[in-house]
Amino acid sequence: MSALSEPVESEHGGGESGIPVSNTYGSKKFPQAIIIGVKKGGTRALLEFLRVHPDVRAVGAEPHFFDRYYHKGLEWYRNLMPRTLDGQITMEKTPSYFVTKEAPSRLCAMNCDTKLIVVVRDPVTRAVSDYTQTRTKSPGLQSFQTLVFKNSSLGVIDTLWSAVRIGMYAQHLENWLQHFPLSSFMFVSGERLVSDPAGEVGRVQDFLGLKRIVSDKHFYFNQTKGFPCLKKPEGSSRPRCLGKSKGRTHPHIPADVLQKLREFYRPFNNKFYQMSGHDFSWD
Ligand code: A3P
Repeated sequence: MSALSEPVESEHGGGESGIPVSNTYGSKKFPQAIIIGVKKGGTRALLEFLRVHPDVRAVGAEPHFFDRYYHKGLEWYRNLMPRTLDGQITMEKTPSYFVTKEAPSRLCAMNCDTKLIVVVRDPVTRAVSDYTQTRTKSPGLQSFQTLVFKNSSLGVIDTLWSAVRIGMYAQHLENWLQHFPLSSFMFVSGERLVSDPAGEVGRVQDFLGLKRIVSDKHFYFNQTKGFPCLKKPEGSSRPRCLGKSKGRTHPHIPADVLQKLREFYRPFNNKFYQMSGHDFSWD
């Protein structure tokens, strides 16, 4: 398997002609900021939006260093990074870090001052999105309602199913807070990233200490895609939306199943609002 497993949806670092531009300026640094989660929260959208900023340089694919490839060592990781000049920020995104027990201590061992960005989305919708992705890869997959309950007649939610477990944000955050102070985190609303991308990216630029350069004028709403898209992505002068794997149509899930899941998440959500200091109003 390739070390960088999420398909890179756009090619960066090449000129408009498609000929790679070799960049020998600057140096490869460890990331000062990482999008650590959550899977299906809108992490690709956020990274692509931030990359428009001239002072942000990011790895295109997901390095998975602090979960899968830690044994390869820090120099392997640093080598994956793009070169940056002084004042530029190096970034990467690997959403599975948020739910990996060992990730916080490993990341802190690299640099405990790393800024951590978590894109969170209503855990019910996130679970359906996650299921939709898995089903795309395994078309014979059982129905959502079969997988979500331990025993469907009792209606007990299966917390071991990763589509459910990932959305228990309070539990994962608790693990991270053993190693990082709350001030290291920025929580981005996955919903607002769709409804007001410039506003959400504006807050992230502030958090990263960057000048607010990415703004309303960089986005347009693409009716066909049903999502905001970039007028001029990094390394291109043509407008571009994210690829087909972002913004899939979700299958219909019976309302009573969604209701059960919503009730299940309520205490976790309330705890997460308290811990993070943000009320995301998911129910
Ligand atoms: P869906 O495919 O379920 O709609 P991630 O990049 O973390 O895997 O998240 C994928 C999700 O990003 C998509 O889930 C989609 O809802 C969301 N998203 C947010 N902004 C988007 C945008 N501008 N274009 C496409 N998808 C976007």
